[in-house]
Amino acid sequence: MKARRPNRDPFLLVFASGAQGEYAGLATIRAYLNQKGEGHRTVCLIPKSAHGTNPASAHMAGMKIQPVEVDKYGNIDAVHLKAMVLVFSLADGRGRDGECWWGSGT
Ligand SMILES: Cc1ncc(COP(=O)(O)O)c(C=O)c1O
Repeated sequence: MKARRPNRDPFLLVFASGAQGEYAGLATIRAYLNQKGEGHRTVCLIPKSAHGTNPASAHMAGMKIQPVEVDKYGNIDAVHLKAMVLVFSLADGRGRDGECWWGSGT
């Protein structure tokens, strides 16, 4: 990631781990939505088979996590994914305040 500081040379920021890169991506998405005036869009859909750092990074980036069901091989349950997209689209990306549903089996 190329970064700039006022009156300084630009520099490259290299993420040393998958979790750092994933957090940086989610924080970037959050900042982008905030800057667009869409900070209310807080829900992040994450498959239950995702790397364990995914929900942690999403939470650290200020998001609420909605798990998406998977089959025994870890493949995303497309029906559940579509349902969750529809539910949170209708809610305009809003989750319920203070809730994190990781592991709730919703
Ligand atoms: C999305 C994601 N997050 C986190 C990790 C964990 O990587 P690390 O142990 O380098 O933080 C991986 C590793 O593949 C990954 O794919």
